Amino acid sequence: MQDQDKNETLAVEAKGLFKSYGKIKAVNGIDLKIRKGEVFSLLGPNGAGKTTTVEMLEGIRTPDSGSIKILGLDPIKNVQDLRRKEGIIPQGFNFIEKITPKEAIAYYSTLFNVPNRSEELIKMTNLTNVSNVIFTDLSGGQKQKVGLCLALSNDPEILFLDEPTTGLDPQARRNIWEVIRKLKSEKRTIILTTHYLEEAEELADRVAIVDNGKIMAEGTPHEIIKEYGNGMRLNVDGEAGLLKVFRKIKGIKTKYGSGKFTVIFNSEKDIVKMVRALEKSGKKWSNLKISNETLEDVFLDLIGTKEKD
Ligand SMILES: Nc1ncnc2c1ncn2[C@@H]1O[C@H](COP(=O)(O)OP(=O)(O)OP(=O)(O)O)[C@@H](O)[C@H]1O
Ligand SMILES: [Mg+2]
Repeated sequence: MQDQDKNETLAVEAKGLFKSYGKIKAVNGIDLKIRKGEVFSLLGPNGAGKTTTVEMLEGIRTPDSGSIKILGLDPIKNVQDLRRKEGIIPQGFNFIEKITPKEAIAYYSTLFNVPNRSEELIKMTNLTNVSNVIFTDLSGGQKQKVGLCLALSNDPEILFLDEPTTGLDPQARRNIWEVIRKLKSEKRTIILTTHYLEEAEELADRVAIVDNGKIMAEGTPHEIIKEYGNGMRLNVDGEAGLLKVFRKIKGIKTKYGSGKFTVIFNSEKDIVKMVRALEKSGKKWSNLKISNETLEDVFLDLIGTKEKD
């Protein structure tokens, strides 16, 4: 009974997913459990296997092996039922050139045999001014918003958004974030693929960092930063002689290059020690900044070093 309760709260349950293209192991053993109403973000470098994973969940690609349940449905066997409950923005979304946002939504409503919600969706995504402009004449951000409207036209319980904000300016991205927050408040499940780490940190309840077809780290951004991060950072500009000053303080790690120091430390007490030592040194320093490690710092630690090889 307890297991059944658990399953009913799961929007996605995938076990042992594998998918190869010739010699390329695009997805190499992925398990996922995503709760209903959760925003779950897939992160990882180009070619990591995110889109392949997402498209298997959507029922667009067939896994070589493994099992998938989306809202209790098998994406291959129950594809018709799943299509009614899912909304998809594929990576690099594009659409029929001469169709306006209004017409596109009306068209999708006919395909899904659902009421036409174009007015509501166009208002929600701030497309009112361009609702009668043809697709090719829309800006990148407006095109992505049309994608979002189409994904929402069947009032889906679960949304798969594969890089919905790639290439958009900071404000257009934040507009899409607002829509995603609204969708979350409506208890929809959202699987969000993104290369913007701060976007995942901002929106996602949990994230998975994928590399080489495998999950390298999974959890809330906070958990991942805590588990894989090194603590806090102090950045300061100063002369090389300060290296000696920092090296005298136990339990901190100092890196130096081109007049810039990065110190990694764990305890807030170290801040006091470092600032006192800087003052006492009589050496020149400026631009002191203290920050917690971000998801991006951890991501680059986990993946970035490999990329440089
Ligand atoms: N249809 C296909 N045929 C052959 N190889 C493919 C196919 N689809 C994906 N691949 C390969 O599988 C690997 C994973 O691709 P995938 O698109 O899943 O990566 P991704 O994590 O989404 O990358 P990106 O961040 O660039 O979108 C890549 O090496 C890619 O070249
Ligand atoms: Mg992709």
